[in-house]
Amino acid sequence: MTDEIDQNFPRKTVQESEAETTIVMLPSDANPLGNVFGGMILKYVDLLAGLVAKRHAGHANIVTASIDSMTFLKPVYIGNALILKARINYVRRSSMEVEVKIEAEDLNKSQKVHTGTAYVTLVALDEKGKPTEVPKLMLNGEEEEKRFKEGQERMESRLRSRKK
Ligand SMILES: CC(C)(COP(=O)(O)OP(=O)(O)OC[C@H]1O[C@@H](n2cnc3c(N)ncnc32)[C@H](O)[C@@H]1OP(=O)(O)O)[C@@H](O)C(=O)NCCC(=O)NCCS
Repeated sequence: MTDEIDQNFPRKTVQESEAETTIVMLPSDANPLGNVFGGMILKYVDLLAGLVAKRHAGHANIVTASIDSMTFLKPVYIGNALILKARINYVRRSSMEVEVKIEAEDLNKSQKVHTGTAYVTLVALDEKGKPTEVPKLMLNGEEEEKRFKEGQERMESRLRSRKK
């Protein structure tokens, strides 16, 4: 990390906020042919990313600022277990990038397929609705440092495209 460490400012690890959920897909989640709606998957992605950001930020209110463009690599069907694994990659001042890995499990065959990865940016707001600073990330190891750097590059890219 290149920023100076302020020992008085709170820092949290990635592990303190990471989260996972498994939801069985129902007919109400899907079209008449049994394919789960992309929007339904995004709803669960947004919910879990919000939980991770809330755990990291503490008492602040959390809103979703953006979800990067994402591709659904494989279909998810009624009766599949949708498995979402979310972790924080990068923190700026009030904004946080949360990565959500999406898998579909065919419960009859005990087979899991990776169906996509979402990058969600969430912003912490204070009681007046103004963006407020969140704890910095306490990075452990090269893998987390790499994720942080890649998250920073994606954030700079999405902020550049926001200005257009
Ligand atoms: C997200 C929101 C709070 C940003 O407000 P803003 O007036 O643009 O505030 P700022 O310019 O000070 O930005 C605040 C932070 O958000 C980040 N941000 C704003 N828009 C962003 C975007 N499109 N993508 C990623 N980050 C974004 C800024 O980089 C800044 O981060 P930092 O404090 O870590 O540097 C505001 O646009 C909002 O309330 N949007 C609606 C959120 C919502 O209701 N979401 C639910 C879905 S409708």
